[in-house]
Amino acid sequence: MSNKVRLVEVGPRDGLQNEPGSVPSAIKITLVERLADCGLCHIEAASFVSPKWVPQMADGHAILTGIRRQPGVIYSALTPNLKGLEAAIAAGVDEVAVFTAASESFCRRNINCSIDESLARFTPLLAKARQHRLKVRGYVSTALGCPYEGNIAPAAVARVAGALYRIGCMEISLGDTIGTGTPNQACAMLAAVRQEVPITQLAVHFHDTYGQALANIYAVLEQGIRIIDSSVAGLGGCPYAPGASGNVATEDVVYLLNGLGIDTGVDLGRLVDTGRWISQQLGRPNGSKTGRAWKNE
Ligand code: HMG
Ligand code: MG
Repeated sequence: MSNKVRLVEVGPRDGLQNEPGSVPSAIKITLVERLADCGLCHIEAASFVSPKWVPQMADGHAILTGIRRQPGVIYSALTPNLKGLEAAIAAGVDEVAVFTAASESFCRRNINCSIDESLARFTPLLAKARQHRLKVRGYVSTALGCPYEGNIAPAAVARVAGALYRIGCMEISLGDTIGTGTPNQACAMLAAVRQEVPITQLAVHFHDTYGQALANIYAVLEQGIRIIDSSVAGLGGCPYAPGASGNVATEDVVYLLNGLGIDTGVDLGRLVDTGRWISQQLGRPNGSKTGRAWKNE
């Protein structure tokens, strides 16, 4: 295996968008800063979505303008439409992400339009992002299963991933939104998608509802994936994916990669401390097994 993996830390966004109570902006800012201090180089820090749809993310401007920035770290945000992009630019975002799905029902419930309408909506967004020299990532949700439609055909994921790539997304993140996928499914899906998008431009984004995320990651690493999304303390979920649990925990991914001799540049001890701290702040059990087991020297 080539021994470099890029981690995209999605905890401040995916992790906190689903919290039942509101998390103070000051806590979110501290979380982003601490994650950067751990050596994470790409942090999805906010969402510029409708506050009626996801009130937990209404303070994106305060987060991006409030953080102490570290050189070399990318602070990105979700932007579902032009309005979101404009707000993200005003807040000084480094990179943005659009999001759609491989299933029509999930797309409709999450962003209130069909898949094709979402792609049409992203085209002017990508043009504007290009003017501002901002890279755009594209998410394909429900890549291994949909809460409303069940199994999703690999060809459906490949179609949407290919379309996102062709309209200018520089990286496509394949989301197992509800965390039901298993390694053979993940590899079959990837085999279809890589016909449309080079493997170097693909990321995986596994939620861990059924405890399969690390197994899936290992399987796709063997297929050549080198970009992995994860969330400190295993925080996460999507308000429009009922029953889905958090993302795979960043601590557990770093522990796995360390064991494989793959470099991430992350200080695991510091990350464990950060995961324990945010779990305590949120009053929830630490969702990382490494975070629970780790003994500080
Ligand atoms: P809509 O209701 O169809 O939008 O929602 P609209 O254009 O008709 O606007 C309705 C209202 O929202 C208007 O306000 C707009 O101004 C406002 P009003 O006139 O009623 O006062 N609005 C906005 N406000 C702030 N920022 C914006 C924005 N856009 C419109 N950007 C929309 C369509 C896409 C906006 C809505 O459905 C939405 O915000 N959805 C976001 C849902 C979401 O954030 N889900 C979680 C993230 S995705 C995820 O977690 C999956 C992922 O992790 C990968 C995986 O796990 O698979 C990425
Ligand atoms: Mg997610």
